[in-house]
Amino acid sequence: MLEIGAVRKVFNPGTPNEVRALQRVDLTLDDGSFVAIIGTNGSGKSTLLNVVAGTFYPDSGTIRLGGADITRWPEHRRAKLIGRVFQNPFSGTAPSMAVAENLALAARRGKPRRLGWSVGRQMKGELLERVRQLNMGLEDQLGDPIGVLSGGQRQALTLLMATWLKPDLLLLDEHTAALDPKSADQVIELTDQIIQREKLTTLMVTHSMHQAANLGDRLVMMHRGGVIQDFRGSEKRRLRVDDLLARFEEVRRAEQLDETAAGMLRQAYV
Ligand SMILES: Nc1ncnc2c1ncn2[C@@H]1O[C@H](COP(=O)(O)OP(=O)(O)OP(=O)(O)O)[C@@H](O)[C@H]1O
Ligand SMILES: [Mg+2]
Repeated sequence: MLEIGAVRKVFNPGTPNEVRALQRVDLTLDDGSFVAIIGTNGSGKSTLLNVVAGTFYPDSGTIRLGGADITRWPEHRRAKLIGRVFQNPFSGTAPSMAVAENLALAARRGKPRRLGWSVGRQMKGELLERVRQLNMGLEDQLGDPIGVLSGGQRQALTLLMATWLKPDLLLLDEHTAALDPKSADQVIELTDQIIQREKLTTLMVTHSMHQAANLGDRLVMMHRGGVIQDFRGSEKRRLRVDDLLARFEEVRRAEQLDETAAGMLRQAYV
């Protein structure tokens, strides 16, 4: 279980560039829950994933994973429990290393080095099998450097690496946004398969209303550093793309009204 409690994060505090990126966010994920996160640009989605992964610490609040308070754990310590895939297909891999080497590294994560050698042949077999299951043609490219793969192949590979040893939590930050539509569909289908098969507790940020409506068992909407909507159960299952677009439109209108009101206030005081 992931428990995010009253988490706040302010960037550049006390300066003209101050940004309240997270404003007391509470969010609890049950084990095996697959949560999609949507929200306007700058609403704090990536910041939320970053404080969970330990890229930086929150200013206040707590983060617990599997009952342990990990709020002050350094990123590398959390990396043993958390798998991550970013938007940029190059993140999380070593581009000059071969596909097989990258996968072997992922498979050895957290294990003492000397154990790595004893896996040898068995590992090769498993590697080939898992890569075949991806159905991305990677089995013929095991010896090629990652740098020559297509974006879709790279994201599929990164996904496989992030989940090779079942993580307690999987974090996906718009991991299909940089792909062409066909590759994005392939990678998203793989994502769903792996999450369902391994029953992974997952937070997936997406800009795709289609993905948000059709994937996962829960949908969280963020705005201005807070959670403004949380759909689950039958409510989530009934959600359609049009409902989400309508909700976004409401948020946008409220924002405009806010700006108009602020403008009128400014005028009243000049
Ligand atoms: N390292 C940083 N330093 C300063 N400001 C930051 C930093 N990271 C994020 N911000 C600011 O915090 C706010 C939230 O950013 P965040 O990246 O979490 O938004 P997001 O919801 O992921 O947006 P997008 O949909 O564009 O990816 C934004 O105003 C952003 O400019
Ligand atoms: Mg983001």
